[in-house]
Parts: sequence; C-alpha cells; structure tokens
Amino acid sequence: MKKKYALAALGLVGALALAGCGGGGAGSTAGTDKGSVDKGDLLIGVSMPTQTSERWIADGSAVQDGLEESGYQVDLQYAGDDIPTQGQQIDQMITKGADLLIIAAIDGTALSSQLDAAAAANIPVISYDRLIRDSENVDFYVTFDNYKVGVQQATSLLTGLGVLDAEGKETGEKGPFNIELFAGSLDDNNAHFFWQGAIDTLQPFIDDGVLAVPSGQTDIEQAAILRWQQETAQKRMEDLLTSTYGGGTKLDGVLSPYDGLSRGIITALQGTGGLGPDIAAGLPIVTGQDAEIGSVSLINQGVQFASIFKDTRKLAEQSVVVAEDILEGNEPEANDTKTYDNGVKVVPSYLLQSDIVYKDNIGPLLIDSGYWTQAEVDAGVAE
Ligand code: GAL
Repeated sequence: MKKKYALAALGLVGALALAGCGGGGAGSTAGTDKGSVDKGDLLIGVSMPTQTSERWIADGSAVQDGLEESGYQVDLQYAGDDIPTQGQQIDQMITKGADLLIIAAIDGTALSSQLDAAAAANIPVISYDRLIRDSENVDFYVTFDNYKVGVQQATSLLTGLGVLDAEGKETGEKGPFNIELFAGSLDDNNAHFFWQGAIDTLQPFIDDGVLAVPSGQTDIEQAAILRWQQETAQKRMEDLLTSTYGGGTKLDGVLSPYDGLSRGIITALQGTGGLGPDIAAGLPIVTGQDAEIGSVSLINQGVQFASIFKDTRKLAEQSVVVAEDILEGNEPEANDTKTYDNGVKVVPSYLLQSDIVYKDNIGPLLIDSGYWTQAEVDAGVAE
C-alpha cells in the first residue's frame, strides 16, 4: 500500500518534470526518488548472462546478497547465454513491477525494446560490467577499467616472453617471438576495449619485429570467439596449430582475454602431440582474465602463465551503492564521464581497478584477500 502511494506521488513528480519544472530527459534518474518507500517494498531485478562461467554465478549471488542485506527484494535471473531468454526475463521483471534493473547483457545491442519499456515505466537501469549499447535509457554503468585490463593482458604476455621485466621495463630482448591473438565475443562491448588495450600495447613490438603473428590473423573479427565459448577457442587453436605450426614453427605466446578461452587454448596445445617441437617441450605463454579457480590452479602449476583479477565482490558492492543512490534520488558517484559512449550517449560510469595474477602473487592477491583459499587453489575447484 505504502509503495503504491509513494509511486503515485512519483507519477506527479514525473508529470511536473515533463511540464518543464526540472528533471532530465529519458534515461535520467530524476523522478526516481523512492526514499520515502519502505526498502522491503522495493523489488530489484538482476539479470545475469550465464551460469556456465563461475564469475557470473559469483557476481549474481554477491549482488543479490548485497541488495538483500540493504533490505531490498531481489529477482535474480540467469539467461543461459541465450539472447531471447534474457529479453523475456527482463520483460517479466518489468511486468512484476521491478523498481530498478541491474543488467549484465549477453548481447549489448539486443536490449533496446526492454530498456524502452523500462523507461516508459520509470524504472532506472544500471549496466553491470558490460555496457548496454544503442539505448538512451541506461542510467549508470559499473565496471572495471576495461581498456587497462587489455593493457594488463598484453603486459603479462610480454612479461612471460621476457620482453618486459617484473617492473614493466623493456629488457632489450629482441625475439622474434611468435604469438597468436584471441578476442572475446564481438557483441560484448568489453571485448573491444580489452582488444584495443592489448593491441595498443603489443603493436610497437610487432612493428619492431620483436613479435610476429605467423597466422596473419590480426583483426578482431578473425580473433573473436562468439559468446566467449571455451570449446570454440579450443577449436580455433587446433586449427591454427594445423594451419600454421604443423611444420615445426615455434609458438611462443597466446593472448587470451578470458580464462575460459585460455583453458580451451591450453587443451588444444596439450593435445598437439608432436605438432611443433617446442610446444611439446613447454607450453607457450598463455594469458587470461577473471582469476577463475581452474585457471588460478593452472597458473600455480605453471601451465597457464597469468590472469587478470577483477574483484567481482567490489563490483557487486558498487552496484548496490549505485542502486541505493538512484532509488533514494541521489546522483550516484561517477569516476568516468567520458569513456563509455554507448552509441547514443556517454553513460556515467564507475570504474574499478584490476591486477595481473602471476604464480608468485596468488598468495597476496587472491588468498590473503579471501577470494580463494589455498585448498581451492590446490584442488582447482571452488568449495
Ligand atoms: C566479459 C567480462 C570478462 C569475462 C567475459 C566472459 O564481459 O568483462 O570479465 O567474464 O565477459 O564472461
């Protein structure tokens, strides 16, 4: 009852805003002040892409826990990496009367009609980790510094090859080193940021002849792996080994933007049985992202070289802070208002920082912070 009353009052605020008494255009968070409503009466829809990757399961439950601890009701849904399913789940959240949506999109360009419906119902939208594109109705974006993640991925590759030292300084090592490049899913805005950060970092060394890409596949379209699928990455690596490395050409490193892909790539490399003498002698340097437990364990064993740790607990926490601000009618704090143009507008963003995981900093970075336990790292599975 209380909620309905306050929402009716909100309708009035909205009408006044439309009449020119203040507030912004579509997508503005003005008019969403629900500070006078019992939090327990407010429902927040949380739409996550998939449960096949452990990071999204962790994200979903951390966001849910944080919101519930703050007193909100939560409707958490996973879309099984299926675009129509995600659309339907968000439609249902809107029909159920959600007061705010937190969305990690599968395809960042496929949610315009849902976001139009949300705007029409005065429901603010927070884009979570991945930017929702082509819509005016994205109110805020919480994520990591995705370009820098790409820089870190390339840096870890260069460090593994011995081109950079532990301080990030050039060692003068001239190679030439043979590398292959992988990118994420092209419909995920992040994939382009990771790629750009990595390529900008690697290009000077390619230009100098320190690095070579023997397959010649240097466009993001050639390197991309749809839906970030491990099996697709494994298949592409197998194809590259057959097409380019069958004659004994040495492969020194692989730029991989996500641990799931890295494990697919490693499986392909381990399965080569004789395809290239150096591959059999020792695996190339393989990078990653997300510090998934399977990969952290492989890093600990010296099989995968590096990953990127993005503390998703902090991302979840930040999304709760932003949700609360919006619902209470406060302007959420942004620390970047330039970078994330979604094709229609620049979305105010809060960016978190990431760290490179190497074998020798698993302890301080991941175990001391409670992200994984030593037992989990040893077993290679989450408890
Ligand atoms: C990206 C995300 C990465 C990784 C990848 C595959 O959008 O930023 O951290 O999780 O998806 O799930």
